[in-house]
Amino acid sequence: MAAGIEGAEVRSGLEGVVVAETRLSEVDGARGRLVVRGHDVEALAREARFEDVYGLLLDGALPDGAASARIAALLGAARAQAFERLPRLGDALATAHGMDALRAGVAHLVEAATPEATCARLAGAVGVFAAAWARVRRGAAPIAPDPALPHADDVLRMATGECDPARARAFDAYLVTVAEHGMNASSFTARVVASTRADLVSAVVAALGALKGPLHGGAPGPVLDMLDAIAAPERAAAWLEAELAAGRRIMGLGHRVYRVRDPRAAVLEAALERLEAAGVGSRYLALARAVERAAVEVLARRHPGRGLEANVEFYTAVLLDAVGLPRALFTPAFAAGRVAGWLAHAREQLAEGRIIRPAQRYVGPRPAAPLH
Ligand code: COA
Repeated sequence: MAAGIEGAEVRSGLEGVVVAETRLSEVDGARGRLVVRGHDVEALAREARFEDVYGLLLDGALPDGAASARIAALLGAARAQAFERLPRLGDALATAHGMDALRAGVAHLVEAATPEATCARLAGAVGVFAAAWARVRRGAAPIAPDPALPHADDVLRMATGECDPARARAFDAYLVTVAEHGMNASSFTARVVASTRADLVSAVVAALGALKGPLHGGAPGPVLDMLDAIAAPERAAAWLEAELAAGRRIMGLGHRVYRVRDPRAAVLEAALERLEAAGVGSRYLALARAVERAAVEVLARRHPGRGLEANVEFYTAVLLDAVGLPRALFTPAFAAGRVAGWLAHAREQLAEGRIIRPAQRYVGPRPAAPLH
């Protein structure tokens, strides 16, 4: 047995294991607070655009007006280049699952001349490929980007064919809210790949794979399925109890770090309220609030003291539905925001980290006799 391993505690799911120092974000699970490079997520979602948070994460500070315009131009050009690449993606976008399409599409890319250009290439491509996949699966032609539009507005327009200011603002708030969130599974994946000194494209392709799973970024589609199945507030408790009795998890509830309500749930709820005030109501918001209350109660009875409350995915589902995205596009939309965090983590890891190589304890059989 390797020195130092015997007797070491195995931390299932790496819970509580600190793997890096980071300047990117702080997730305070006890108080329910998310700070992204010195800014509360609530303020960012209200006041910043995706371009601003992209600059905050990758350049270290919120961009001023000129820098923000430069990032917008960079991302706009990257979207145009990604769109030109669509005919050369083969059948990458002809898949049933949007994350398979994104993974296959992004895998076609290679690094650009500079890290800055590579980051823009990847961020632009995720938005364009996600929107194009949504069109292709409906038998419609992909819509070309408008590089002059803000990133969120253009991705929403390419995906849905339309984009009014209220919906665009809500979608932008969503992208900002999910851009960065500590050492989550996909960002950790990006760091592992970057730690080997592989390229940023490989880091993002791997992160896309991690995001696909229902315990991470795959939850919001099933949240909407759950709301459809429950259909009326008075049916919520019994439906939820039956799910738990069948050994299934309630999607959009619970979190590895938060022991209170995920602050991003409130941020997205506030964005939904602003959307409603602008005349775009949600067909799910009232039901979602009732189901959340019932789920928190049901889960508290089963796991007293664990603090299983709504996570970001719960109101993600409601918001993305309200802005007009089909539920199959929810996880790819998550990727369109989180790609900024992946790139920031990968670059931080490249600049400061060692190769990530944890240990294990072997519990299999030991050689007892010669093979023959
Ligand atoms: N529904 C039902 N049971 C849940 C649950 C949920 N949403 N979340 C946690 N639990 C249960 C676990 O099964 C575990 O039960 P056990 O002790 O009998 O095995 C217990 O509560 C404690 O789980 P915890 O340690 O808090 O979960 P985790 O850190 O391993 O996993 C998640 C965190 C997010 C993967 C988990 O809460 C989950 O699966 N949630 C649903 C999927 C989801 O919304 N994902 C998006 C996350 S942003």
